Amino acid sequence: MTDPARIAIVTGAARGIGAAVAHRLAQDGHRIAVLDLDAAACEPVAEAIVAAGGEAIALGADVADETAVQSAVDACAERLGPPTVLINNAGITRDNLLFKMTTADWDSVMGVHLRGSFLMSRAVQRWMVQEGWGRIVSMSSTSALGNRGQANYAAAKAGLQGFTKTLAIELGRFGITVNAVAPGFIATDMLEATAARLGKPYDELLAEFAADIPVGRTGTVDDIAAAVSFFVREEASFTTGQTLYVAGGPRC
Ligand code: NAI
Repeated sequence: MTDPARIAIVTGAARGIGAAVAHRLAQDGHRIAVLDLDAAACEPVAEAIVAAGGEAIALGADVADETAVQSAVDACAERLGPPTVLINNAGITRDNLLFKMTTADWDSVMGVHLRGSFLMSRAVQRWMVQEGWGRIVSMSSTSALGNRGQANYAAAKAGLQGFTKTLAIELGRFGITVNAVAPGFIATDMLEATAARLGKPYDELLAEFAADIPVGRTGTVDDIAAAVSFFVREEASFTTGQTLYVAGGPRC
C-alpha cells in the first residue's frame, strides 16, 4: 500500500542527516522543501531529488528568524502546496565546559534548536490543522541524557523532547502526530567538528565511539532517515509524543 504524497519541509537539509531525510522522504513519494540557511546550498540536494524522479525546491531561511520562517513556509505553500510534514532537523553545536561557555554560545544553540523548532512548528501547524493531517518530527540527541561540554546542546535537545510531548497533546485532535528522533553518534560534518575540537583524527574518534556501541559501529545518516520515515507514515498515526533513540544500543 502506498501512502498519499505529502509536502514535507526538512530544515537543515543542505547536508548531513537533513539531506538524507530529504532524500528518503522523496523516495517515500513526498514533495520536499529543502530548507537551510542558504538556498544555494540546498540546490544540489533538491536537484538530486528531481534527477531521481522526485519533486523538490530549495528554500533559504534561518529557522531562528521569525520573518524568514514565515516567508519560507509561505513560499513552500505557494510553490509546492500546503506543508503537512515538518522535520525540525537544523542544528548547531557550540560546545564548551560551563565555566567557559559564553552567553552567545548558549543563546545561539537555544535559538536554532528550540526557538527554530517552535517558529517552524507554529508556522506549519496552520496548514496541518487546515488539512486535518500532519507529522512533526524533531531531531533530539542522546546528548539530552547529559554530555560533558554540551550544557547548552543537552538542554536544547532535552527541551525538544518536552516540546514534542506537549505538541502531541495539543495537536492530536487535528490528526497531527509529533515525535522526536534522538540519534547517537552519526558520521556527519557535526561529528567531524567534534573530532577537531577534541584534537583527534576523525577515523580514530569514530573507532573509539564504535567500541562502546553495542552494534559495533557508529550510525549513518540513513539509519536516522529510516526512523524519520517511520514516524511520517500513515500507519504511525497512533504513535505520538515519543522519542525514539537511534543509537546502536539502549543508551550512549
Ligand atoms: P550538520 O552540521 O551536518 O548539518 C546541520 C545543518 O543545519 C547544516 O546544513 C546547517 O547549515 C543547518 N543549520 C544550522 N543552523 C541553521 C539555521 N539557523 N537555520 C537553518 N539551517 C541551519 O549536522 P548533522 O549531523 O546532520 O545534524 C542534524 C541534526 O541532528 C542536528 O539537529 C543535530 O543536533 C542532530 N544530531 C546529530 C548527531 C550526529 O552525530 N551527527 C547526533 C545527534 C543529533
